[in-house]
Amino acid sequence: MSRSTHGAREREREQGHVSKAPDGRSRIRDEGDRAAGDTVGALDQGARRAARSGCTILITGETGVGKGYLAKQVHEASPRGGGPFVPVNCGAIPESIIDSQLFGHVKGAFTGAISDHLGFVRAAKHGTLFLDEVGGLPPPAQTRLLRLLQDREVQPVGHPRPIVVEVRIVAATNSDLRVAVRERRFREDLLFRLDVVRLHLKPLRDRTGDVDTLTDLFNGEFAELYQQPRLVIEADARERLRRYGWPGNIRQLRTIVERLHVLFPCEPVTVERLAEVGHPVDEPGAGSSWGAVRGARHDELVRVLDENGGSVARAALIFGVHRSTIYRWLSRQAVDPTPGPR
Ligand SMILES: Nc1ncnc2c1ncn2[C@@H]1O[C@H](COP(=O)(O)OP(=O)(O)OP(=O)(O)O)[C@@H](O)[C@H]1O
Ligand SMILES: [Mg+2]
Repeated sequence: MSRSTHGAREREREQGHVSKAPDGRSRIRDEGDRAAGDTVGALDQGARRAARSGCTILITGETGVGKGYLAKQVHEASPRGGGPFVPVNCGAIPESIIDSQLFGHVKGAFTGAISDHLGFVRAAKHGTLFLDEVGGLPPPAQTRLLRLLQDREVQPVGHPRPIVVEVRIVAATNSDLRVAVRERRFREDLLFRLDVVRLHLKPLRDRTGDVDTLTDLFNGEFAELYQQPRLVIEADARERLRRYGWPGNIRQLRTIVERLHVLFPCEPVTVERLAEVGHPVDEPGAGSSWGAVRGARHDELVRVLDENGGSVARAALIFGVHRSTIYRWLSRQAVDPTPGPR
């Protein structure tokens, strides 16, 4: 999204951001307690200041709230915006190759190392390394990352000496790393190093004012993509979208708008139409407790799985989340993915 589109809104909303370290100390002191996610498509004042500073940033928030999107914005708003932005999904790299993937290796360092490999960290030199799902890093890689943060050095596998690298680190997590620290899955010293400034993105259900803005934004985006007029969204359908709990957050809203464009181009969006594209219309209102939202999500997940022969892949598509997220929800709610008797 172009920042200019939301320039006026950005100015209106310019407000501070207070970030807490794991020890409860505020990192950036400011006027408000608004988190980064209160602005659609624009960094708030605190986030902009943090972006420009080049400091390490930890972005937190549920799945689909826009952590990756915000990381890119932080990069672009920083003086190194012209440099590389290198995203790394820390939870998705097999443990056996993570060191070489992150820190590189030299030719012959191990069987199969047929040439030198730069690794993600050095590929991000003079730019931003975005460590997504940083909680998924195995302990040895955590130790090496700590060294990078402390000494600005990496040691490629098989290289005799550490190499200094100038890189800015932005990390993201959708799990509470303090819990991971308590359970000894994540190094506390690493958390402190990452959590210099924390930008928390609130879930969409707590940002109902942004649902309309985002709906319009995605409506325009898909109209352009599919070369068709913007959809006319009726007032009661908008109201349903605003009141919905959005377990998959912004990604889920984007998926719904795209589905409407693909399946019902040029047709007005009514409450019935929403139901037809799989959007639940009887959801708890805004401000409902997280427990209620989880309960509603649970019911919806059961329904979606039931309607789709228990296919987790299909449910993931419908919610607009990764399959692993569906499995996480299943494990928390103890839902059996096999369809029940009809
Ligand atoms: N402020 C925003 N304006 C427009 N689109 C957004 C915004 N925030 C997020 N999006 C879009 O929503 C989708 C989900 O965002 P993103 O992938 O950044 O979420 P995430 O928090 O990283 O999710 P996950 O935890 O699953 O990795 C993307 O398509 C992204 O482009
Ligand atoms: Mg992401």
